[in-house]
Amino acid sequence: MNPFLKAQKIGFLGAGNMAQAMIKGLIEGGIPVRNIYASNRSQGKLQKLVEIYSIQGASSNEELIDACDIIVLAIKPQDLLSALEPVTRAFDSTKIVISVAAGIPMRQLEKYISGGRLARVMPNTPSLIGKGVIGYLLNDEKDNALESTVEDLFAPLGKVIKVSDEDQFEAVTVSCSSGTGFVFEMMMYWQDWIEERGFSPEEARQMTIETFVGASALAAQAREGIEDLQARVTSKKGVTAAGLQSMRELEIERALRISFEKAAMRNKEMGREIK
Ligand SMILES: NC(=O)c1ccc[n+]([C@@H]2O[C@H](COP(=O)([O-])OP(=O)(O)OC[C@H]3O[C@@H](n4cnc5c(N)ncnc54)[C@H](OP(=O)(O)O)[C@@H]3O)[C@@H](O)[C@H]2O)c1
Repeated sequence: MNPFLKAQKIGFLGAGNMAQAMIKGLIEGGIPVRNIYASNRSQGKLQKLVEIYSIQGASSNEELIDACDIIVLAIKPQDLLSALEPVTRAFDSTKIVISVAAGIPMRQLEKYISGGRLARVMPNTPSLIGKGVIGYLLNDEKDNALESTVEDLFAPLGKVIKVSDEDQFEAVTVSCSSGTGFVFEMMMYWQDWIEERGFSPEEARQMTIETFVGASALAAQAREGIEDLQARVTSKKGVTAAGLQSMRELEIERALRISFEKAAMRNKEMGREIK
C-alpha cells in the first residue's frame, strides 16, 4: 500500500456492504485501523463494524468529514444527495471525495462538493469478494496523485480501470456491473437445460459454475484472444461448431447488444430521476 495512503485518514460515509468490503481490503493492505473512520444512519450497524474491525466510529457525517482526508460516499444513490445537503460546507479543497453511488454524474456531485478533488467509482458486485472490475472517473484527469489514491484504495477489490468520460463510465456500468447480472441470466439457462437432462439442481449448478469459471480462468491465463481460444475448442463440423452456428443464426449477439443499449438508456434515465 502506498505510504501516502497509510498516513491519510479515510472515512466511509455509509457503512454497508461496499464500505465493509473496502474496509476489509484496506486493513489487509496495511492501512492502520486508527486511520479508518465510518459513519452510518443506524448506529447499531456502525457499532458492530467498529467492534469487528476496531475502526473509528464517527457520531455524524459532519464529524466524519471534518476528521478525514479522504471520504468515500458509500450510501445508496437515492439517499446520497439528501445526505450531502446538510454537510456541503464541511467539504473543502483539501479533501478527496470518492463516490461509489451508481447513477449520480460528476457534474451533480460537483454541485454539492465544490472545489474538492472528486472521483466517481463503479465497483461491480464481485468486488465484495475481491474479484471485481472497478471503473473510475476523475474530475481532473491530470490529477496523478488522486489517480494513484483511487487505484490503491480499490486494488484489493479487483481490477481497477480508469475511464476518460461519463460515456465510458456508463460502458463499465453496463458491461461489468449490470454485466454480472447478465452473466447470471445465462448461467440460469445453462443450469435449467442441464437439470432437464436428469441432473440434480446442485449438480447442474456446479456444472454451470465450473464451466463459466473454467472458461474465464483459461481466457485469463491464455496469451491468445478469446476468439482464438474458441477456435481451439471448435472442430470443423463438430458438436461445438453446430451449437455455435445456431447461436449465430439466432443472432444472440444482436439480442445482447440491444439489451446492453437498453441498460445504458436506463442508466441515463436514472441519472435524471435522482434529485
Ligand atoms: N453492493 C454492491 O455490489 C455495489 C456495487 C456497485 C456500487 N455500489 C454502490 O455502493 C453504495 C453502497 O451500496 P451498498 O451495497 O453498500 O448499500 P448498503 O449495504 O445499503 O449500505 C448503505 C449504507 O448507507 C447508510 N446510510 C443511508 N443513509 C445514510 C446517511 N444519510 N448517512 C449515513 N449513512 C447512511 C445505510 O444505513 P442503514 O444501516 O441505516 O441502512 C447503509 O448502512 C451505493 O451507492 C451503490 O450504488 C454497491
